[in-house]
Amino acid sequence: MGRCATFSCWSILFVTLFSLSHGAGDTLNQSQIIEDGQFLISTSGGFVLGFFSPANSGNRYLGIWLKSSNDTVLWVANRDKPLGHSAGVLCIDAGGNLVVTPGKANDTTIWSSGLPNQGSTAARLLDSGNLVLTSANDSSNLLWQSFDHPSDTLLAGMKLGPDYKTGTDRFLTAWRSPADPAPGNLVLKLSGRELPELLLWEGQRLKYRSGPWNGLRFSGIPEMKSYDMFNFTIKTTQDEMYYEFGTTKPNIYARLALNTSGVVQRLALSNWLSWNAFWSAPKDLCDDYATCGPYGVCDVNSSPVCDCLPGFTPTYPNEWYMRDGNGGCVRKKKLECTARGDGFLLVQQVKLPDTANSTVNISMSLAECRSLCLQNCSCTAYASANVTGGRSGCIMWWGNLTDIRKFVSNGQDLYLRLPASEIDSITRNSPERRTVAIFFSIAVVSALLLFGLCGYYCFWRKRKVTKVITVEGGARRFCSDTSMSREDPDIPLFNFEAIASATKDFSRDNIIGEGGFGIVYKGNLEDGQEVAVKRLSLHCVHGVDGFKNEVVLIARLQHRNLVRLLGCCIRGDEWMLVFEYMPNKSLDAFLFDDGRRHLLDWRKRSNIIMGVARGLLYLHQDSRLRIIHRDLKAGNILLDADMNPKISDFGTARIIGGDQMEVTMRVVGTRGYMSPEYAMDGVFSTKSDVFSFGVLTLEIISGRKNGWIPQTRSKLNLLAYVGIKRCMAWNLWKEDRCLELLDDKLPCPCPFSEVSRCIQVGLLCVQGFPDDRPAMQQVVLMLGNENSTLPHPKEPGFFSLRDPMAVESSTQHRQSWSANNLTVTKLEGR
Ligand SMILES: *[C@@H]1O[C@H](CO)[C@@H](O)[C@H](O)[C@H]1NC(C)=O
Ligand SMILES: *[C@@H]1O[C@H](CO)[C@@H](O)[C@H](O)[C@H]1NC(C)=O
Ligand SMILES: *[C@@H]1O[C@H](CO)[C@@H](O)[C@H](O)[C@H]1NC(C)=O
Ligand SMILES: *[C@@H]1O[C@H](CO)[C@@H](O)[C@H](O)[C@H]1NC(C)=O
Ligand SMILES: *[C@@H]1O[C@H](CO)[C@@H](O)[C@H](O)[C@H]1NC(C)=O
Ligand SMILES: *[C@@H]1O[C@H](CO)[C@@H](O)[C@H](O)[C@H]1NC(C)=O
Ligand SMILES: *[C@@H]1O[C@H](CO)[C@@H](O)[C@H](O)[C@H]1NC(C)=O
Ligand SMILES: *[C@@H]1O[C@H](CO)[C@@H](O)[C@H](O)[C@H]1NC(C)=O
Ligand SMILES: *[C@@H]1O[C@H](CO)[C@@H](O)[C@H](O)[C@H]1NC(C)=O
Ligand SMILES: *[C@@H]1O[C@H](CO)[C@@H](O)[C@H](O)[C@H]1NC(C)=O
Ligand SMILES: *[C@@H]1O[C@H](CO)[C@@H](O)[C@H](O)[C@H]1NC(C)=O
Repeated sequence: MGRCATFSCWSILFVTLFSLSHGAGDTLNQSQIIEDGQFLISTSGGFVLGFFSPANSGNRYLGIWLKSSNDTVLWVANRDKPLGHSAGVLCIDAGGNLVVTPGKANDTTIWSSGLPNQGSTAARLLDSGNLVLTSANDSSNLLWQSFDHPSDTLLAGMKLGPDYKTGTDRFLTAWRSPADPAPGNLVLKLSGRELPELLLWEGQRLKYRSGPWNGLRFSGIPEMKSYDMFNFTIKTTQDEMYYEFGTTKPNIYARLALNTSGVVQRLALSNWLSWNAFWSAPKDLCDDYATCGPYGVCDVNSSPVCDCLPGFTPTYPNEWYMRDGNGGCVRKKKLECTARGDGFLLVQQVKLPDTANSTVNISMSLAECRSLCLQNCSCTAYASANVTGGRSGCIMWWGNLTDIRKFVSNGQDLYLRLPASEIDSITRNSPERRTVAIFFSIAVVSALLLFGLCGYYCFWRKRKVTKVITVEGGARRFCSDTSMSREDPDIPLFNFEAIASATKDFSRDNIIGEGGFGIVYKGNLEDGQEVAVKRLSLHCVHGVDGFKNEVVLIARLQHRNLVRLLGCCIRGDEWMLVFEYMPNKSLDAFLFDDGRRHLLDWRKRSNIIMGVARGLLYLHQDSRLRIIHRDLKAGNILLDADMNPKISDFGTARIIGGDQMEVTMRVVGTRGYMSPEYAMDGVFSTKSDVFSFGVLTLEIISGRKNGWIPQTRSKLNLLAYVGIKRCMAWNLWKEDRCLELLDDKLPCPCPFSEVSRCIQVGLLCVQGFPDDRPAMQQVVLMLGNENSTLPHPKEPGFFSLRDPMAVESSTQHRQSWSANNLTVTKLEGR
């Protein structure tokens, strides 16, 4: 095999060969070389090819990375053949192959594109990040491309899956360690000829499966449905089978990557030049392959997570109750194996079981599928293979059903074979659950119930408007009058006409704000009561979720520092929430208004800090649910007539179980208030609210907005400025000058010991590591007890920043952020 050197790197080096000068271009031809320290740069300047060393390693490798994110290498050529410390050279050898040698004067081939002699060729780094090798005289004649040899990263336009024509497979292999790009034993492949499915292997062990492709999405990735920012192609042809993703918006860099701990992540480069995760897997216990064994069902929302399919019972009850689900479940009753004796039970909202032992016929109807399955006793279940446009196609399982998990929504239907007598007894025991079965979370059931009833009542009352109003003396009625379940609180229902007239037909003059999911109007009810009406924006795709979320959550919460829900109204696709009216609007209207800041004296400010802390403590701990607000900010703190604070806007709140942290693909919230782990990785816990509370506290004390940007510095990265700002509080603290943080508009006198205690608590809350931050309970104690000693705060989050000078104006940031809000998905099935 030829090398650079056979082309005489050194003999005629200074005659015919010349090095590319810095940033010379995107093309390398046969008379050129790239030395260590030189780069090929794609036309648009996005991608760079050159030599690099991974962090904590001195070894040199040839790789491709993004110019704006050069510490994330997307492709590596000589993965398992490091160059050591020598300065390598890339060139095209006499045979037309790309080769890497350890230097101009050493002709050892470290890496080569490995083609038979191709004659004269040229290499080019495309704007997609693809390094292509083509004939020199015909650039459409593709000979080799880096996209066919992925490392651990799939870029937009790259194909994952087997190429039957060439007999090669394109798959992702994780780096062995962050310092060693050599192929590790973690592999992500697209498998299954009829129904493609992503499988994550660790050596011979299956770690995770995405579930079969069902025409719309992978059966085990329900959130795939709601991405706006990404599109997917999954194709099976004679020649190849592949999975490919693209971005629907221009100028977005996205990737699917397998990291060294075996986590697949879908990431996009944000304007702050950090990679934000939209999705990752395995993300919980139920994603781990076969957690609950054969015939077990995994549900992260129940405890323990494992349950048996209906008609089954744990194989080893003792282990099972010790929460070891591996043994799985066995049938309570043997199958009859006759067409009359057996039947199928519909199990809804699941990830389909492992298809290793199944057959697929994509053209069969579901009815044919059923009858075929019923004919053969080895067939244990069937399901539709294609859920787009009605259900068609057929998957039949032979033998054990493994790796089933339950979703709250966007799961699939599985028809489970059981003896007819067993089906009878299951359906008899829970008659109204015949089809809904156990596969609906209580939350969704109660939400649906609530909306069904609300809708019914709006309709019912619309026909009896006058009567209702006169009889009841107000526009109110209670959902719980009827068969509302005991768990559901009373949700008063308002009549649409009453709301419309109260808000003067939703007149512009009555608009008092815009919440997370819609516009808020002020209204005067007939009985003189003032209310705030939040009207869901109709074009907001995620609004419905936000609305439901808000109703279900807030209806259950009762605390004097939480805004009170007076009722709801639904008419057709008009969705509204009615709240108590807060005459003093929101805290930001005072705090960030130079003309009104002086109205908040220290008593009022400390009362607000304490009230918000109590409200948050209630959310985190004292209510029956553990709730994370996720968007705590000055704009969401409303003030009543006596300036008592009330937390509002639960559109983004989440109920979580226990002390756990959760990860979301849809990072919602407000910049400046978001904790680093949440903003960067989507990890949220009660401690992310604590962080926001800390920011809010410092804002209340300083009367300045976090992330506020002076005009002259508008080119500065917002995040960096946030860092600097908080760093300012921090530095003042370190230098024992923290009282300088105090709002200059704050009317004196102020009790300085109390102020500095508040500052210290605020700084404790914004510490970089979630574990360092106090829980709200401690915060309330610290604020309330003047004699307790406080720990010393550590550095705040975002204190150090990789690239503080990345330039973006603040408005651009805000826009791109809200664009993210709208486009990224909601994580289903906590
Ligand atoms: C190689 O590239 C250089 C610079 O782009 C160009 O001047 C030269 O003509 C090219 N050589 C061949 C053989 O294409
Ligand atoms: C990566 O970018 C940073 C800042 O732009 C620069 O200091 C550093 O040298 C770059 N590293 C490489 C390997 O290009
Ligand atoms: C060329 O490089 C190889 C691998 O780095 C090394 O083993 C060999 O000794 C080098 N040869 C010369 C002549 O430097
Ligand atoms: C390109 O060059 C090769 C020889 O290197 C020749 O066989 C081929 O016909 C040429 N193709 C075109 C389109 O000129
Ligand atoms: C994604 O959508 C864009 C724009 O519509 C299109 O150009 C691209 O081919 C699509 N990619 C995939 C993988 O479907
Ligand atoms: C891999 O990604 C997961 C999820 O973001 C993260 O928890 C883990 O630390 C990552 N592993 C490494 C080695 O970076
Ligand atoms: C598929 O069948 C083979 C052979 O009977 C068995 O070893 C394997 O465990 C089965 N796989 C699944 C997922 O049931
Ligand atoms: C798939 O089902 C169709 C319709 O029932 C049938 O005609 C066809 O032969 C089946 N294909 C296979 C491979 O069994
Ligand atoms: C039932 O299906 C199994 C697995 O496909 C097959 O081996 C067996 O022959 C079938 N039995 C009958 C009676 O069709
Ligand atoms: C799935 O069904 C839709 C609509 O019926 C059809 O257009 C599509 O081709 C089907 N997909 C496959 C793989 O058969
Ligand atoms: C099905 O699961 C049972 C219990 O784990 C196991 O004994 C049996 O071998 C499995 N059968 C197949 C075909 O994998």
